[in-house]
Amino acid sequence: MQPVNVGLLGLGTVGSGTVRVLARNHDEIARRAGRGIKITHAAARNLNDLGDLDLRGVRLTEDAAAVVNDPEIDIVVELIGGLSPARELVLAAIEQGKHVVTANKALIALHGNEIFAKAQEKGVMVAFEAAVAGGIPIIKAIREGLAGNRIEWLAGIINGTGNFILTEMRDKGRDFADVLAEAQSLGYAEADPTFDIEGIDAAHKLTILASIAFGVPLQFDKVYTEGISAISREDVSYANALGYRIKHLGVARRTPAGIELRVHPTLIPERRLIANVDGVLNAVLVWGDAVGPTLYYGAGAGSDPTASAVVADLVDVVRAMTTDPENRVPHLAFQADALSDIAILPIDEVETAFYLRLRVQDRTGVMADITRILADHEISIEAIRQQEPDDDDDDAADVIMLTQRVREGNMNQAIERIQELTSVIRPVTRIRLELLKQP
Ligand code: HSE
Repeated sequence: MQPVNVGLLGLGTVGSGTVRVLARNHDEIARRAGRGIKITHAAARNLNDLGDLDLRGVRLTEDAAAVVNDPEIDIVVELIGGLSPARELVLAAIEQGKHVVTANKALIALHGNEIFAKAQEKGVMVAFEAAVAGGIPIIKAIREGLAGNRIEWLAGIINGTGNFILTEMRDKGRDFADVLAEAQSLGYAEADPTFDIEGIDAAHKLTILASIAFGVPLQFDKVYTEGISAISREDVSYANALGYRIKHLGVARRTPAGIELRVHPTLIPERRLIANVDGVLNAVLVWGDAVGPTLYYGAGAGSDPTASAVVADLVDVVRAMTTDPENRVPHLAFQADALSDIAILPIDEVETAFYLRLRVQDRTGVMADITRILADHEISIEAIRQQEPDDDDDDAADVIMLTQRVREGNMNQAIERIQELTSVIRPVTRIRLELLKQP
């Protein structure tokens, strides 16, 4: 049988990995797919910047539209990232009846509803395994492997760069900017690394995971997003002393009032497996009503690991090319006409436990004032500690508290009142805490 012709848009970190993996494992991949898979046409922004990548037999261009419009191409692989021109190119490929594989999480999170509707109309597939958690087959696991479950919640370390930074800060006391520069040089970070640090990249991925877990449309604009740039070494070390690790987590949870969608630094008990996922590695913990908790772990970024997911999608698409479009796995796991409109909860209504750190004057009555305000707002304290600050301020103390679960709105009001106390001499630090154990 003739090989399937693939057009590749982008020869950067993931594109070059895809070329290498397809070449290295060509025979194994053909045995799985039933046909060879061949890149015949590729576009790169700068053809003089391709290093020693072996592109023999591939027509090269700097014009991505020429690849999309090439009548010999069956599948377009979009690896250029960003929203434009990626959106236009993907829609043009679909319009021409071509299947699409993409690693573009921003594109799927923001324009996936439009893209999937168009793909359904044209009877083509759009595969996006590489968009979430790099090489971990998490889309396939949730969409197919857990299809018998009602998913209750999922929580994931889904940004490799952020996890790499937090790990190096904790283990080696390294400087934030220095670790970020290394993540960039290793090809982990986004073109704009604030997407990694401020949680936007994780929010893109969480949007996708929530849709396939709960069968709701993609709603990136409803994700509450908080980054890691305010995490200090003191918090990392106080959390450690209390038996917790701080991780940048994406959480999607079904509650009777609606769905929680949030990305923020989070204390997790150190005995949980996911708390020990370090460096650029990613992990997603999914709780299904039938299966209970399952954990998916692996490389969340990088050239070959992300190419692993791209090539797996290519194999899936090739296997399903001759099938009836009505009987394929739906893009968002649930049939398009069966998506639900459950509301996404505003962050004020979300309930979590909290870690609080307060720098206070070291004098009688301060603790009583603080605990009274917490009690007024129905906030129960789980643990409390007083520490000498490590900056030699003899008249001050750091008070560290862990609270029980409380509505975020109550916590905000309590912090506002605590902040008004003259004995509280710096802004209160608060970090959400998740035990990740209940269904
Ligand atoms: N910048 C992303 C990360 C790349 O660090 O996880 C993989 O999506």
